[in-house]
Amino acid sequence: MALERTFSIIKPDATRRNLTGAINATIEKAGLRIVAQKRMLLTRAQAETFYGVHKERPFFGELVDFMISEPIVVQVLEGEDAVAKYREVMGATNPANAAEGTIRKEFALSVGENSAHGSDSLENAQIEIAQFFAGNEIVG
Ligand code: TYD
Repeated sequence: MALERTFSIIKPDATRRNLTGAINATIEKAGLRIVAQKRMLLTRAQAETFYGVHKERPFFGELVDFMISEPIVVQVLEGEDAVAKYREVMGATNPANAAEGTIRKEFALSVGENSAHGSDSLENAQIEIAQFFAGNEIVG
């Protein structure tokens, strides 16, 4: 096991319903440490870059519109195997398939409005963290 950092977003459906604290409690109970965090509004350009890998998918326009609709909370999470662990804590992309106790099972509204983002690899975690945080904003 290795100490890793992963990138997380609490999405607009969750901030709108005042679920930031509940999601943070789930993250911390799982043993992940929130080592950076800020609330912000994404610009359309930022959202399009962030989800650029999906730009040919039919849901891309809706996804970008959703991500810029209301504030998000961006975070860096640190812990043993943080990338895989946070994917587990979030649960499956579609809440209908998410396991009991996961963030998406507990809180997500739909496959689109699914409350949380977590990096899918260590390499992407490093890229995503660098898009939103300067090194001195991350305090482990
Ligand atoms: P994806 O990277 O497949 O999932 P994850 O967030 O679990 O890594 O998709 C990115 C986001 O795109 C997903 O969180 C919600 C949205 N999305 C849809 O709106 N509809 C879909 O059918 C899929 C697959 C994703």
